[in-house]
Amino acid sequence: MVAVAILAAGKGTRMKSDLPKVLHPMGGRSLIEWVLQSLAPIQPMRRLVIVGYRQALVREALSSLDGNNGLPPLEFVEQTEQLGTGHAVQQLLPHLEGFQGDLLILNGDVPLLRSETLQRLIQTHQDHHNAATILTAQIPNPKGYGRVFCNGQNVLQQIVEDRDCTPAQKQNHRINAGVYCFRWSDLAKILPRLTADNDQNEYYLTDAVNFLDPVMVVDVEDYQEILGINDRKQLAVAYDILQTRIKNYWMTAGVTLIDPNSTTIDDRVQLEPDVVIEPQTHLRGETLIKTGSRIGPGSLIENGQIGRNVTVLYSVITNSSVADGTRVGPYAHLNRQAHVGSGCRIGNFVELKNSTLGDKTNVAHLSYIGDASLGSQVNIGGGTITANYDGVKKHRTNIGDRTKTGVNNSLVAPLTIGADVIIGAGSTITEDLPDDCLAIARARQVVKPERGVQSKLKLMAEKKADG
Ligand code: UD1
Ligand code: CA
Repeated sequence: MVAVAILAAGKGTRMKSDLPKVLHPMGGRSLIEWVLQSLAPIQPMRRLVIVGYRQALVREALSSLDGNNGLPPLEFVEQTEQLGTGHAVQQLLPHLEGFQGDLLILNGDVPLLRSETLQRLIQTHQDHHNAATILTAQIPNPKGYGRVFCNGQNVLQQIVEDRDCTPAQKQNHRINAGVYCFRWSDLAKILPRLTADNDQNEYYLTDAVNFLDPVMVVDVEDYQEILGINDRKQLAVAYDILQTRIKNYWMTAGVTLIDPNSTTIDDRVQLEPDVVIEPQTHLRGETLIKTGSRIGPGSLIENGQIGRNVTVLYSVITNSSVADGTRVGPYAHLNRQAHVGSGCRIGNFVELKNSTLGDKTNVAHLSYIGDASLGSQVNIGGGTITANYDGVKKHRTNIGDRTKTGVNNSLVAPLTIGADVIIGAGSTITEDLPDDCLAIARARQVVKPERGVQSKLKLMAEKKADG
């Protein structure tokens, strides 16, 4: 029986931000979301989050993720004044009265923890029937962290906060990661006895650890896991570590990253083998890219569903899908539910918005297609624009199979154009067109040879030459 508690009441002063520290985003999730995610495989029976600074924001951000995940609901516990980590945990006393299991406590600012590490901590704790078991790391630069002293059997003797260490104690590179597993009934007895008798006048959770017996330590294998985020430099360092993890994972899974350093990939992105990601490409959100597709250089895909053998060149695709074998770009923008069929060509300087395109349909040059449904094998002439907005409302345009619009057509919605239609260049279409017709809607060309145009132009050219 394991319950978990996350300490997230602090302000995060060193972030110099209006946003509470634990809500800062990193690779598609906030810091505290990462922590919650690392806790999920543990199947905790309760999930408590201690909130304080701008707690309404933290509650709101987390409640939108709650539910439908098979996990117990988040329980928010208020710490009105931030008087230290021990004080934060004291707030749990009324909520966990009579609880007979173990309590895993961790800081809300350690986004890189692996679930396996937490499982190992809990396993050691339970196998040895410890009062508490704490996660430790041997790190090159231990400055700022509490130092952990233990005997040869990994039994804790003492934790000393950095500021209370003697110069000799500071030489110890084994640090307290701020991740603890407690037998709750033992911790609950100790908590009321904590004092703020130290140089920060704070109630230290580490003091509680020092009172308990026996306490064991578990070293993390990779110290990067326990990096806490206190400022924006550490946020960038952690993001870099996260990116290395994600990219190594995908390269091992058969994805080519031509230039990993100029590419970023969010955690929820899914890639199939033989996908090639070219330089300067960023994949975000719930994006899926199927085998054989080549993305980039210079592309951003956010919540994009990309089929097999698609190419995307210098383009932006958000909340949209592209089916097999379609070519996108250079310089295309697909957004807000643009759904493109297979074997299509979406070309240079084309925007698609809230539109559906059938298979083998081309929108190759300089077009805006918004709120439209296009059939299969449609060809949209260069510069064709759907006039979808009348200043008040958006209207739809429907175009049937095999229809070809001319260059520079304006299609004024609401509008339905049948299948097998040809529209003349430069036409402004305001009325529906039936299947199988030719439509021309423009002024007839007028030619007036008698006006002496040539002599005028020659005169102008001579003047120019004279300067
Ligand atoms: C703490 C540990 C230190 C350890 C380090 C690991 C103590 C006394 N020290 O130090 O041994 O090496 O973590 O990162 O615990 N918080 C609250 N309420 C408070 C104070 C803090 O919720 O009143 C939360 C913060 O939001 C943060 C976490 O507790 O998520 C840690 O607090 P912080 O002040 O950063 O502790 P450290 O000084 O880093
Ligand atoms: Ca910290």
